[in-house]
Amino acid sequence: MDNKYNNALEVLKNHGQEHLLRFYDELNDTEKDALLEQINGIDWSLLRLKKEESAAVHGSIEPLGAMTLSEIEKRYDEFECAGIKALKEGKIAAVLLAGGQGTRLGWEGPKGTYNIGQTHDLYIFECLINNMLDTVKACGRFFPLCIMTSDKNNDETIEFLKAHDYFGYDPSKVFFFKQDMAPSIDFNGKLYLEDKGRLSLSPNGNGGWFNSLENAGLLDMLKAEGVEWISIFAVDNVLQRINDPAFVGATLLSGTVCGAKVIRKNAPDERIGVLCLEDGSPSIVEYYETTEELRDAKDENGEPLYPFGVTLNYLYSIAELERVCEKPLKYHIVEKKIPYIDENGTYIKPDKPNGIKFERLAIDLIHMVSDCLPYEIVREREFAPIKNPTGIDSVESARELLKLNGVKL
Ligand code: UTP
Repeated sequence: MDNKYNNALEVLKNHGQEHLLRFYDELNDTEKDALLEQINGIDWSLLRLKKEESAAVHGSIEPLGAMTLSEIEKRYDEFECAGIKALKEGKIAAVLLAGGQGTRLGWEGPKGTYNIGQTHDLYIFECLINNMLDTVKACGRFFPLCIMTSDKNNDETIEFLKAHDYFGYDPSKVFFFKQDMAPSIDFNGKLYLEDKGRLSLSPNGNGGWFNSLENAGLLDMLKAEGVEWISIFAVDNVLQRINDPAFVGATLLSGTVCGAKVIRKNAPDERIGVLCLEDGSPSIVEYYETTEELRDAKDENGEPLYPFGVTLNYLYSIAELERVCEKPLKYHIVEKKIPYIDENGTYIKPDKPNGIKFERLAIDLIHMVSDCLPYEIVREREFAPIKNPTGIDSVESARELLKLNGVKL
């Protein structure tokens, strides 16, 4: 133990982080061991990351059209038929990105365990699974559903789904895997402790999903089962269709390596990422990076040049993911409110951002793949994200949209 301690102290001194061992003598042996283990696992290169390196630097931006609703309508049967065939053959799986902390919603548990019902229970996970069961019914086969969690919510997520019998999904087709964690630091680069014997670690963004899936051995399992395509989707959009046959079929028939469900923006300044071309390749410009010029650009008919926003619902070819994910995605620096314990051991819950977290973003994948089919969906039917308790993209707005689609609350 002494040796381990001395090594850790040496490393921390080299990085100016000795304060992490401030409460070491107060810990029991198990806690001491766990803290040294955490210190051993720190990726120090992250702390050298500068804000400028993490910021998105966009190249030359041009519009990217989408397969529109009317085009989809015309070929609907053909798409649906191709999608059902691929699903029946077991070529399609799904990954639910559920490792986030959902801080804006302010719900203590995993976001999927939030009960959105009013007269009866209706959980977010339940809404998503109900939607997936539509696909299962259409093709007569369950597709593998891999659920990404984090150290913070893994056990609770698994227990919740088990306790609810997976809301009717086949348990033998549900697989869990954990994403990686990253340390949080203050604005002077000092790592935070969240307890006397624990570093403040948080999920490192949704962008590491493919590497985490692979590290958990699930990619090999899927490939061995004959899966060739994986869709990914967020936990918070309770209306989204997942692996719906028409979308699957349209993507496969398009000959591209990726399909992306997009909606028409409801206003030029809607807070949603825009799908476009950057230096000739598909790319997403986030709403906070958008320039006024891009936001207001119109074509010769006065129509918006960049009308399509992304919904975090994509279908990727595994072969392409393996090609582009050989190198992990870059990290972004995000300013957040980070609870911590101060030098006196007092727990502090800040009310404004007090430090930095490091996150990889799934949207960065789009710029790495060779091409992409933007596939338009009807926003009122498929887009009801729950980010906040009230207002835009909230429990309130999602309830209205669910009712509009005939879901009993
Ligand atoms: P959000 O960007 O909404 O982040 O995630 P969040 O952490 O859930 O919520 P806030 O920002 O704290 O309120 C979009 C999707 O990506 C997943 C989320 O679970 C959600 O499905 N995600 C996010 C992860 O899987 N891992 C992460 O580290 C972050």
